[in-house]
Amino acid sequence: MASITMENIGKSFGQTDVLKGINLNVHDGEFISLLGSSGCGKSTLLRIISGLERQSSGRLLIGDKDMDNVFPKNRSVSMVFQSYALYPHLTVFENMAVPLVMRKLTRLQRLPLVGRFIGGTSSVRQEMRDRIHHLAETLDIHTLLNRKPAQLSGGQRQRVALGRAMVREPEVFLMDEPLSNLDTKMRAHMRTELAEIHRNLGATFVYVTHDQEEAMTMSDRVALMIDGQILQVATPREIYRSPVHRKVAEFIGSPRINILPGIVTNPEIMEVCGIKCPAPKGLHGKCFIGIRPSRLIPSEQASGTWKARVTNVEDLGSSFLIHSTLAGEVRTISRMDSRSVIPQVGDKIYLKPQPDCAMFFDSEGWNHNLSSERPAQDIPVSALTFSEESHESAIAI
Ligand SMILES: Nc1ncnc2c1ncn2[C@@H]1O[C@H](COP(=O)(O)OP(=O)(O)OP(=O)(O)O)[C@@H](O)[C@H]1O
Ligand SMILES: [Mg+2]
Repeated sequence: MASITMENIGKSFGQTDVLKGINLNVHDGEFISLLGSSGCGKSTLLRIISGLERQSSGRLLIGDKDMDNVFPKNRSVSMVFQSYALYPHLTVFENMAVPLVMRKLTRLQRLPLVGRFIGGTSSVRQEMRDRIHHLAETLDIHTLLNRKPAQLSGGQRQRVALGRAMVREPEVFLMDEPLSNLDTKMRAHMRTELAEIHRNLGATFVYVTHDQEEAMTMSDRVALMIDGQILQVATPREIYRSPVHRKVAEFIGSPRINILPGIVTNPEIMEVCGIKCPAPKGLHGKCFIGIRPSRLIPSEQASGTWKARVTNVEDLGSSFLIHSTLAGEVRTISRMDSRSVIPQVGDKIYLKPQPDCAMFFDSEGWNHNLSSERPAQDIPVSALTFSEESHESAIAI
């Protein structure tokens, strides 16, 4: 198995810098996801690892070997594409056999009539057949081996593409949005299967997706990419709980985190949507407060809360999402348990943040709790109280 080391990798297409100094260490046997919105450079980075593309600057190592001048076929990596990239004129069996035929047989041995008379060909072919049948059983496609791709469902095609990648027994699997063409149910099913395949193979997986749910449910670690840079690499739990930047907080979590603008008016006082409260030490000027929807919930009390107007209500079955507008312009989302009394569109509500739920971001978006050298949080949200002059509502929890 193999680790992957990326050192300051840059990639430009003409004048456009697509990757801007990527540093990432993927551990041996790890499942890591490259998560980011469309166009941020995920596929480009994956193609550089596979060798289909060459970086403009920086170094790539697989294991401890520099990959400069190593052809894709010599890299012990297999790539699974979003489009499956199966050969339409070949059967499932033949599609899966392609990587083995190319590797295990010489050009002469591959010849249809002559090949079989060359020494060793039949035993290699038998070995290949055994391996394909064994893999097909594992992936539950053994009854489909004689079909052509056009005769398969999306999920079946995806498993064939996976099988074709697995048959080579590579040290590294590179997957570029492999589930994005599947319906929701099949995606959830394949997520579990992929996680299980990873556990069984113990190989290194680099998985590209823009779907945070996929990244969060399968990965050991998530690398969040924004605009050609990796902003944070962390476990799913850590990246959700301690995002280093406001953009990470906004990308991770569904529905999206509420971001309320604030300003520190003097070293101790912060004003958030018209309400004054104590400011965390070291935070200056413009700032942002992040509160997850499940932690900003409607309350019956007017005191210690923000006043808001309900603009939409979404019924998700087990919970409700309450969209509202706060201070006339800031849009917020609250998640409520379906057993609660649910407000209606147009209702005036009071929004109450739960204890210790706020994240503080500075004017550039960096998480103040993490970027500061002082202890994590000087003033817990639970200690934030209304100033006397603030008559409306406040973050008094
Ligand atoms: N061969 C190329 N020539 C010029 N620009 C390219 C080339 N390949 C990619 N790009 C540009 O590089 C940027 C990153 O592309 P990339 O395919 O890596 O994004 P991505 O994160 O995979 O997006 P998506 O989620 O939509 O697949 C895009 O702006 C794209 O237009
Ligand atoms: Mg892509």
